[in-house]
Amino acid sequence: MMNWAANISLKKYNTFGIDAIARYFAVFATQDELAALLDGVPGQMVGSPFILGGGSNILFTKNIDGPVMRNEIKGIELVDEDEHYVYVTVGAGESWHGFVQYCLGRNWAGVENLSLIPGSVGAAPMQNIGAYGVEIKDVFHELKAWDLVEGKVYTFTLNDCQFGYRDSIFKGKSKGRFIILSVTFRLNKIPVFHTAYGAIREELERMGIQELSIQAISQAVVNIRTSKLPDPAQIGNAGSFFKNPTIPSIHFEYLQKQFPGIVGYPEASPGGTGTGPASAGMTKLAAGWLIEQCGWKGYRHGDAGVHTRQALVLVNYGHATGQELYDLSEEILHSVHEKFGVTLEREVNIV
Ligand code: FAD
Ligand code: EPU
Repeated sequence: MMNWAANISLKKYNTFGIDAIARYFAVFATQDELAALLDGVPGQMVGSPFILGGGSNILFTKNIDGPVMRNEIKGIELVDEDEHYVYVTVGAGESWHGFVQYCLGRNWAGVENLSLIPGSVGAAPMQNIGAYGVEIKDVFHELKAWDLVEGKVYTFTLNDCQFGYRDSIFKGKSKGRFIILSVTFRLNKIPVFHTAYGAIREELERMGIQELSIQAISQAVVNIRTSKLPDPAQIGNAGSFFKNPTIPSIHFEYLQKQFPGIVGYPEASPGGTGTGPASAGMTKLAAGWLIEQCGWKGYRHGDAGVHTRQALVLVNYGHATGQELYDLSEEILHSVHEKFGVTLEREVNIV
């Protein structure tokens, strides 16, 4: 049974490597341990607990006065199957990529496009993680979460979660209320390949793949990701810092006249394979392109910077503070707004 510890540095618990101090810190590996820790919350603690998974989508800008609890609930269990699907329940503290590898090893299809995304299974529904044309909502069955308000476990169906682009009820309306304990996925026994993304097709071709498989797609995704995203073990970062913004296509067409190279995808089409003509409606822009055009790519001030190969990723070269990185993100926001009239929204959770 784990206990509360005082004044713990969170540096090794967040991939930005920010040295924030948690006034109270604890780890739980079961639902019972979680309940016992919540019962034993030291009297002087304020606020509801902050739940930490792999710390790969967080920017700490200050020390944390409230309790911080790290989820380490483990376990992967096949709970049901039929002719087409397997249903697999996974502890929230399992590593996401570890789970993806587990599925690849059993030929369970559906998560191969989401290979190499850092972090825990329990955080994956928070922002409906996505990459290369697939989002977790496509394989989601249900999840169980502890309700801090009512003190009991709730089951959330796909509809309950209100998944959107990098969004869910847990990041929105119910922020801070639920602790995700386990997630059940529905995976395909017979694979449905998602290769609409141009980059995947090109990489599969480069690899000389004759026969498509989920293992080949996973390898292609791993190759693409390692070629442009910084490895948090080498350079602190939290992946894309901002969301790709969606604007009215009329605005996009206007920008296209001024900036012919601008990258945008009509919103209705999944993936994002080209810059085709914007239909009426909405267009999703590549924020990385906007930021690069403002001259930020490779920028560095002190230890806070913008990645040299992907302008959407802010990096910590060593000792940047969360506030310095936040200030840099403010400057980027302002300059993109000034040049393009587009307001970026942060994807990373600011704490
Ligand atoms: P944390 O950073 O620990 O937490 C994130 C948020 O979820 C926090 O608000 C936290 O309080 C909350 N939370 C965590 N666990 C729980 C729980 N069990 N119950 C309730 N709340 C919880 N994301 C993508 O979508 N697509 C990508 O392609 C992608 N690429 C990335 C590449 C890199 C190099 C990095 C560093 C990050 C990338 N990300 C990507 C972002 C990140 O990996 C995901 O958001 C991931 O799901 C975060 O998991 P985590 O366990 O690290 O969450
Ligand atoms: N681009 C530039 N300059 C840059 C970066 C990007 O011009 O510095 C342009 C390029 O034209 C490129 C386009 O932007 O073709 C898209 O870039 P990329 O394929 O790298 O993807 P992204 O839009 O930057 C999104 C997700 C990633 C996800 C990839 C693959 C968001 C906010 N980010 O990035 O998710 O892995 O697509 O699907 O939606 C994350 O959420 O942390 C994350 C890494």
